[in-house]
Amino acid sequence: MSHLSEITHGFVGADLEALCREAAMIRLRRIMPEIDFDVAGIPYEQLARLEVHMDDFVTALKEVEPSAIREVFVEVPDVHWEDVGGHEALKDKLIEAVEWPLHYPHLFEQAGTRPPKGILLSGPPGCGKTLLAKAIANESKVNFISVKGPALLSKYVGESEQAVREVFRKARQASPCIVFFDEIDALVPARGGGSTDAHVAERVLSQFLAELDGIEELKGVLILAATNRLDMLDPAVLRPGRFDEVIEIPMPSDKDREEIFRVHLRNKPLEEGVDPTTLVSRSSGFSGAEIALVCNRAALMAVRRAVAFVKEHPDDKVVTVVTRSDIDAALAELNEE
Ligand SMILES: Nc1ncnc2c1ncn2[C@@H]1O[C@H](COP(=O)(O)OP(=O)(O)OP(=O)(O)O)[C@@H](O)[C@H]1O
Ligand SMILES: [Mg+2]
Repeated sequence: MSHLSEITHGFVGADLEALCREAAMIRLRRIMPEIDFDVAGIPYEQLARLEVHMDDFVTALKEVEPSAIREVFVEVPDVHWEDVGGHEALKDKLIEAVEWPLHYPHLFEQAGTRPPKGILLSGPPGCGKTLLAKAIANESKVNFISVKGPALLSKYVGESEQAVREVFRKARQASPCIVFFDEIDALVPARGGGSTDAHVAERVLSQFLAELDGIEELKGVLILAATNRLDMLDPAVLRPGRFDEVIEIPMPSDKDREEIFRVHLRNKPLEEGVDPTTLVSRSSGFSGAEIALVCNRAALMAVRRAVAFVKEHPDDKVVTVVTRSDIDAALAELNEE
């Protein structure tokens, strides 16, 4: 059985049961190929009495994946550069930090240097860290694995460090690949913070560091992470050779906010003459997320007006228009909150 335990690395209890069931079914089909089995009709006890061979398990492994792996998706996010307003210099910096190592590793080698292992995006909430990470992943045309720190911890209680290991394993399989740890402060908080179970936190941290340090083998894998609480991270994560580069994503400047307004008003039916440049001064101190909220609230007001109109005039054609006063009202609303 030792061999079985080796090939079921990363499996939790439920996965093992599914694997046994699948292996038994494979054996059954092998010894009685002519019978059309009604899977649901065969009690588990009966299946369990079968003499299942190693071979069956190996075949079953192709069908049954450990749940940690199943939860780690390689995806292509649906965010493009044009969906990120402003932050032009940051976009260039990200391209250099993220795309170059993945696309031109040989040039780094020729120059006798190594690109940073990990890149950390840090900045206040709602300023586009997650958005930028998705955009860079999409635009650089490599595989993307996205993991949310809090979700990983809560989903795999007691299995978290195993889940961390699986993430890196999956990343190696999917190379060239960007792994994005969003809200990483939840995953590897400073020790002694007392927030989560200290033992779990410790194990997850050491697993994470071990994987990060072993990154030489992670050729073609780039680790990206984001946090709005840099001070909450365990300092070990920030040591040279780990997250070598911390990129600050600041609150948007006037120019950035104008561009963010453009992004979020782009597909809305705007009243003629609404000019994003005039919205800048009324939104000072707003984050990108707040600007998105203003635009959506303004659109909702337009919808409310249109619905009221339809109710009054069921036979007339209605045109939904977002007006300057909708936007002003939404801005005022948020300024008051
Ligand atoms: N530069 C931007 N351009 C366009 N939209 C933006 C920009 N920044 C933020 N937004 C809007 O705000 C939303 C939230 O941004 P995002 O999730 O990237 O913030 P974050 O920095 O990751 O925040 P948190 O620290 O809370 O995770 C985005 O989905 C987007 O709608
Ligand atoms: Mg985020």
